[in-house]
Amino acid sequence: EEFFQQSLDLAKKKILITAGPTYERIDPVRFIGNFSSGKMGFALAEACAARGAEVTLIAGPTHLTVSHPGIRRIAVESAGEMYEAALNAFPEADAAILSAAVADYRPEEAATEKIKRTDGNKMTLTLTPNADIAATLGERKKPEQVLIGFALETTNEEENAFRKMEKKHLDFIVLNSLKDSGAGFGYDTNKITIYSKNKDRKSFGLKTKTEAAQDIIDVTLQSLLLKKN
Ligand code: CTP
Ligand code: CA
Repeated sequence: EEFFQQSLDLAKKKILITAGPTYERIDPVRFIGNFSSGKMGFALAEACAARGAEVTLIAGPTHLTVSHPGIRRIAVESAGEMYEAALNAFPEADAAILSAAVADYRPEEAATEKIKRTDGNKMTLTLTPNADIAATLGERKKPEQVLIGFALETTNEEENAFRKMEKKHLDFIVLNSLKDSGAGFGYDTNKITIYSKNKDRKSFGLKTKTEAAQDIIDVTLQSLLLKKN
């Protein structure tokens, strides 16, 4: 039971969220993936829905489940499928939050039969680049739409995050700091800094992903919160 009704400050807002990893098929039984858990994106989806938003959650393979009826989940496997689903949903969206760990490359060809081992030989896979969902949405963005990306860097965190935000025409980028252990992929906590395209920055301490989701919404969706429905 919720005794304290949360304010529905995102009522009627349509929020698109990408979450989780993508799997890129090598053959019918193998794929290239990554360690993203999807927790941050799912926490964002729940938080937006709890505040009244109509959420479209485009999620790569994960065991996480959603509980709020305000969340429409679209399950995808590969970066290509996520790209299709995201481009399709974006024109309707007031904001898009791109938290997915999208594979940058996929095998050039997915074998239709299981690839057999050959004794003693090396194995080479040729990879081909996937389309950039964030950059494509950045190109198509209407002035009133808010676009939020994520960055996880191991060197020159701030500089790289800023460059990504500009290159993809994002309004905000959320930097996941790896400097403190217990933050990031697979963990339940995150330490984030949010940069805006007007060069504002706001840093937060180590928090649960549920708490971090509220901070991200408060900072990045301010323009939507202020608007009348
Ligand atoms: N992103 C995306 N589609 C891709 C790759 C990335 O939408 N094909 C989004 C991510 O969801 C994230 C942002 O772009 O919001 C930054 O992702 P990241 O992997 O850090 O950036 P890249 O541009 O792929 O650069 P690199 O991996 O080389 O650091
Ligand atoms: Ca990448």
